[in-house]
Amino acid sequence: MNAQKYGPVYRDKIGNLSYVFVYKPEDVAKVFQAEGKYPARGPALPWKIYREQRKKAKGLLLGEGKEWRKFRSVMDKKLLKVKDAAAYSDRMNDAITDFLMHLDKKRQEDNMDGEIKDLKDSLYKWSFETINTVLYNKKLGTFEDPPNPIAVKFYRSVCLMFDKSNEITLLPPYYKYIKTKRWNDYCKIWDTMFEIAEQLVDEEYQKLQQSISEDSRKSIDLHHSEEIEFLPYVLLRSELNKDEIVGNIMDLMIGGVDTSANTMLWTLYVLGKHPDIQEKLYQEVCSVMKKGEHPNSLSVQKMPYLRGLIKECQRMYPVAIVTARILDKDTVLGGYQIPAKTKVLVGYHMMSFDESFHDEPTKIKPERWIRSSAQHRFNPFGHTAFSFGPRMCVGRRIAELEMQLLISRVIFINFITDAFCYRSFDVRSLFLNVYN
Ligand code: HEM
Repeated sequence: MNAQKYGPVYRDKIGNLSYVFVYKPEDVAKVFQAEGKYPARGPALPWKIYREQRKKAKGLLLGEGKEWRKFRSVMDKKLLKVKDAAAYSDRMNDAITDFLMHLDKKRQEDNMDGEIKDLKDSLYKWSFETINTVLYNKKLGTFEDPPNPIAVKFYRSVCLMFDKSNEITLLPPYYKYIKTKRWNDYCKIWDTMFEIAEQLVDEEYQKLQQSISEDSRKSIDLHHSEEIEFLPYVLLRSELNKDEIVGNIMDLMIGGVDTSANTMLWTLYVLGKHPDIQEKLYQEVCSVMKKGEHPNSLSVQKMPYLRGLIKECQRMYPVAIVTARILDKDTVLGGYQIPAKTKVLVGYHMMSFDESFHDEPTKIKPERWIRSSAQHRFNPFGHTAFSFGPRMCVGRRIAELEMQLLISRVIFINFITDAFCYRSFDVRSLFLNVYN
């Protein structure tokens, strides 16, 4: 809206934060060229201040400069390398099986003519269990009957933390100096999350100490990282201390819950609303696997329509509508001289609807992402969901795989109807754009 009023480059404020907004491809390219060796988004202040006050280590989300680079060099390999991410398929399928059984039970309990109440909560549990099974190689138990109380405590704290962060981020950071009840309550939520994460990392650490002697540690070939679990790999690399590992684990858990869950909610919404898309997807999935079979990273590679659909839902309903960068050098954007250190917001949502990027941008067309399709147009900034450059989403491969596996299994259930698609709904912008 402001872009229509002021043009493609303008200065604005959100709460007490000031920034320059851009979305034209030529400007976006320049922003990423000017991000420097250590790209910086600027911190989410309440998160940063909590960790400073409680002397907790930062992780990828808050890390800066050389420290951030060090974190990425450890995490990139285990999370972004295709082979490593592929190794998580089986346990991701286990989390999906639990999720589907939970839905089945819930559908009967809800007794709403097949409709499921609060599907969002179930999807949050699915993404929470999936990221945990990648990080800790075990189910935490939100889908168990009765659910594991620690898992529920952890899960509720993550959701609550997001809700409260949204309120606090828009306030002036008085909490740095004055500890009000609101701030103390907020810190307690984080304390709970850290306590549980520390306990889980500790357990893994003890197990590793007991199972691998100092000598045999040295002989483990870390180059074949896909054969080693995530936490043992990070511990064996010995580049991060235990506090830094917990700080990073925390950031991966924060990054991995709302994002995938909300993307899946939108995808199910699109499938419900478009029976023709649902049918095409069903035909594609059936051509690759039978009902009841579990897909893996290779089978979803044979499903271009599935991958196109998820990308298209990410374009239409992005969870991250902007990404920030602090310019590393003076840069000319849209004819304006913007000094180094300025915070620039790259408007991914605006880019998604720009006709110079996508034909008929308001229409859902999974085909536009399929290379062999006549509707495909290559565009280096076409798929913006995970951002770009060395600071792009570190969970991208995990997220893509877990979402592809989920949809390729959900499509066999014949309860994706248009039941919840004719309702009106709101979109809430928290840190992310979420279905309300
Ligand atoms: C649909 C799913 C997801 C979307 C759309 C998404 C999107 C994003 C975006 C836009 C960024 C900012 C990148 C930048 O500043 O250039 C980001 C960063 C990040 N994401 Fe994701 N993400 C998703 C899933 C995940 C998952 C599953 C994880 C955990 C495994 C994760 C962990 C992170 C972390 C830790 C960062 C910070 C990276 C850094 O600063 O180095 N994300 N994500």
